[in-house]
Amino acid sequence: MMVAVMAVLQWAGEPSWREVGPLLDRWCNDCHRAGQVGPFDFTSYEGAVAYAPEIARYVLGGKMPPWRAKPSGVEWANSRGLPDEVTAKLLAWTNTGMKPGKAVMKKRHPQWNLGVPGVVLSQPREHTVAAERTVDIVRFTAGPEELGNGGKDVYFDGFELRPSNRALLHHALLRVEGEPIAAWAMSDGGLRLPAGVAWKIGAGKKLEVELHYFKRNLRPARDLTRVALYWAKGKPGRVARLLELKKEALRIPAGANVHREAMRFRLPSGARVYAVLPVFQLLATQVRMKWGDERDYFLWVEPFEHHLMSSYLPARPLSGRELEVEAVYDNSAQNPYNPHQKLREVRFEENGLDETFRVWLTVGR
Ligand code: HEC
Repeated sequence: MMVAVMAVLQWAGEPSWREVGPLLDRWCNDCHRAGQVGPFDFTSYEGAVAYAPEIARYVLGGKMPPWRAKPSGVEWANSRGLPDEVTAKLLAWTNTGMKPGKAVMKKRHPQWNLGVPGVVLSQPREHTVAAERTVDIVRFTAGPEELGNGGKDVYFDGFELRPSNRALLHHALLRVEGEPIAAWAMSDGGLRLPAGVAWKIGAGKKLEVELHYFKRNLRPARDLTRVALYWAKGKPGRVARLLELKKEALRIPAGANVHREAMRFRLPSGARVYAVLPVFQLLATQVRMKWGDERDYFLWVEPFEHHLMSSYLPARPLSGRELEVEAVYDNSAQNPYNPHQKLREVRFEENGLDETFRVWLTVGR
């Protein structure tokens, strides 16, 4: 943070909306525009000016954009970490009276961050999560008439979910014949695989979308989710699928504020990892990963915040034999997210208010 503060002090110019509009668009507006996960809409000068003090505060505090992975030896293709000069320019703009200007923004699809979809699938009807429920799982399927895979396999290399209620849909899985092939979390925009890798839906098979809703209050809530698929160009060299890693023998003592759990997983030989999604709940405060006996973590997310959960896409596929995953939990009363007013030991629960220890890897071979 010191670096950013110094850069601000050294920033001499008075940038106008002409320069700042496109910066907000590049770094913020996948989430901060109508229908996306972030509150407010920064796509217009008026929209951004209305929240300029908040923008300055969140950017200076390093809270926005949400990117909690510490720098490591791995370059993340979807990194949201703000370069210091962008931070400096945004702050210079808010500090010098938000000069207007004519900004030329990149053309965007009004709904989908990944652009014009190949096909859009929709939940058949709006789902209501009943007042008394905190977790709810709902599935819908799409078949050959929608997917066009009646007589042939089809491949997609990108997908994006668009819930009508962004705060309610915690994560989702895509399955073919019961097998998970892809995963999405609430702070993911669209996910796209590198060229030559794609997800496959075999001829005549159905794609199942499994939605995991999560809320912390006792009010009913409704959602209707749509899914955009982006078809791959040609037959890919590698087919992607999902590897679900988990540690079920979890015991987080009541009141423990720094409780560490770790586990090693052996990956199938030759597997290349294209996406890493840590899936934890309200008590997790850190998640770290490294290969075998290496000293350095290639992914270290701290603080882990369940509502900002998202996938990490390496710029080059990762590979290794043994993945070591560590998580730190805070099961004390100091953790503002702790759902248990009366502290108690917490164990593994796949779908509930308790905790998990799960990592979903998108792998290809
Ligand atoms: C990946 C999605 C995402 C991106 C990218 C993102 N935000 Fe956010 N932002 C959120 C979400 C979700 C929230 C609400 C939850 C929270 O505050 O933790 C939020 C909250 C905020 C708030 C606080 C709103 C309030 O309630 O007061 C501000 C200000 C903000 N973002 C500014 C920015 C700025 C500026 C950028 C770009 C430099 C940015 N955000 C990039 C998702 C995003």
